[in-house]
Amino acid sequence: MKTIGLASDHAGYPLKEQVKEWLKALGYEFVDFGTHSTESCNYPEFAHALAEAIEKGELATGIAICGTGNGINMTLNHHDAIRSALCWMPEIAALARQHNDANVMVMPGRFINPDSAKECVEIFLSTPFEGGRHQARIDAIPVKR
Ligand code: RB5
Repeated sequence: MKTIGLASDHAGYPLKEQVKEWLKALGYEFVDFGTHSTESCNYPEFAHALAEAIEKGELATGIAICGTGNGINMTLNHHDAIRSALCWMPEIAALARQHNDANVMVMPGRFINPDSAKECVEIFLSTPFEGGRHQARIDAIPVKR
């Protein structure tokens, strides 16, 4: 059974609750790193919690949501183990897996309709990485220090 990590801020909370229902229907389990209400909060707290669980190897895949998707996506991508992709249409969710081997999908909770979001979730979780020329590209993403 694959377990999916979830994170959002208050603006992403309503869609995160819907995502949980879709995951259950698809047969996935999930760990919800918060937030747990629509009370105003700061997205980095929840993004870091999700990213750290993936860094530790406790989870392989995450879905994260804030209002635009940008803030939570920026935070996640500060972690070396994370390739987080902002997705708002199914084709981008597919390419995030096929070309980017993304391990977290971010959605813009205030700017995506539920049908698109549901399709993004289904496609992101079921689409494999293509490898090949894309492997060299993702290998070159980390900043060399
Ligand atoms: C919250 O108002 C909003 O700023 C946040 O959800 C997100 O869009 C930030 O990038």
